[in-house]
Amino acid sequence: MKAAVTVHSKFTISEIDPRLYGSFIEHLGRAVHTGIYEPDHPTADENGMRRDVIELVRELNVPIVRYPGGNFVSAYNWEDGIGPKESRPTRLDLAWHTSESNQVGIHEFADWCAAANTQMMLAVNLGSRGLDEARNFLEYVNHPGGSEWSDKRRANGREEPWDVKLWCLGNEMDGPWQIGHKTADEYGRLAHETAKAMRAFDSSLELVVCGSSNAHMPTYPEWEATVLDHTYNEVDFISLHMYFENRAKNTANYLARSIELDHYIGTVAGVISYIKAKKRSTKDVYISFDEWNVWYHSKERDKATLAGAHGWPHAPALLEDDYNFEDVLQVGCILNTFINRADVVKIACMAQLVNVIAPIMTVPGGPAWRQTIFYPYYFASVYGRGTALKLLVDSPTYRVDGLGEVPYLDISAVHDAHRNAVTFFIVNRNGSEAIDLDVSLLEFGTMKIIDDQVLAHSDINITNSADQPDNVVPKKGEGAAFADGRLGLKIAPLSYRMIRLKA
Ligand code: AHR
Repeated sequence: MKAAVTVHSKFTISEIDPRLYGSFIEHLGRAVHTGIYEPDHPTADENGMRRDVIELVRELNVPIVRYPGGNFVSAYNWEDGIGPKESRPTRLDLAWHTSESNQVGIHEFADWCAAANTQMMLAVNLGSRGLDEARNFLEYVNHPGGSEWSDKRRANGREEPWDVKLWCLGNEMDGPWQIGHKTADEYGRLAHETAKAMRAFDSSLELVVCGSSNAHMPTYPEWEATVLDHTYNEVDFISLHMYFENRAKNTANYLARSIELDHYIGTVAGVISYIKAKKRSTKDVYISFDEWNVWYHSKERDKATLAGAHGWPHAPALLEDDYNFEDVLQVGCILNTFINRADVVKIACMAQLVNVIAPIMTVPGGPAWRQTIFYPYYFASVYGRGTALKLLVDSPTYRVDGLGEVPYLDISAVHDAHRNAVTFFIVNRNGSEAIDLDVSLLEFGTMKIIDDQVLAHSDINITNSADQPDNVVPKKGEGAAFADGRLGLKIAPLSYRMIRLKA
């Protein structure tokens, strides 16, 4: 089948905020313990952090990491994670029915972020706690010294403040599962007052208020309207979350779900505009899509642990999805959607980063390895910086109930003006036919293909593992050609492609 795309450097969507390629570490399962932190591991650094994992995170060029939760944050006492490690309490974590030894807290996480070349995006607990703890935490993290909490930080070995700019006001507060769950009005009031107090400390902070946990919540999208009505003038972002699953084993429907993601973003963008107009405001609020990923492979396995059948284990294997090749395509489509919505989505965090629904996995005492989904995330994060281009796309479609006509071709493009480069991220959703793709780039002049990478596999269920980490790896693309302002290439059935051109 044939598809055509037209590109022009002046037809743009928006500059991409590099934080579109963020990630997330929660005190959940083995994300922290035996994930980033394993003092006895052969690669452990002086802080007990695994160097092999740090290397992989650096490879992904992750700009921000959200921490410490997630559901975990809604009953978390941040003070449990400071001071001498031997005096830190072990707590029962009510969100995941596990024990938390608190051997990693804000100091260890901050040092890890520095080593991994990434920035912190911190969340405050607005579930079991509130404004007072939030402002104390902020003072501990960001005040230079001369106050109770900042002096405690200094006494705990960190002289300089970390100066963290990006803060989440709780997590998924619309969810009945959340410790300290609230109605939209209760949460909106609390978030507003907490934001006001945090801004009284530093008006330049960037604050993220909780939107819906997913687009199927009964309170969606009224939740967004009510919460923003309370908080609009004090916040910069509203957070959204979405997880993808294919329990029905229907690849075509599964890969169409990024269309649903696009509608979700569009609806919330509309609610933001409505509240902006209602308040006669001149400021903008954007979307922080701070949890997204495929999450379903591990759900059956986790049922017993999450039901508490095994007591309160410390760092059990939870949410350890083994990603297959089909998930590569899904993650590719999700990232394309964020790039194509870069005018409203400024932040997005793949949930999560290590071991827990993650691109990076570890074996305790053993190797760290890349899951299949590592690669589309890697390509977008490394090459998707610059300006998102508005593409005119002509693609054959297929029908999906509830979503209408879904294009077989899923594509986004990013123009890196500094390097004179244009990068395309492409997925073919068709299971049997290749797409003959014709891309018109006339206005860019003569271009050269400088990189061409393909992810393809005959078995959509194939996974990578510690023993077989290279079942799914990128291979050099073949057959693409640039001539007379046009790029021609064939996109194999159910494949992902990243192709980069330079003027
Ligand atoms: O990422 C796993 C969990 O999913 C997070 O803790 C929670 O915020 C969401 O429901």
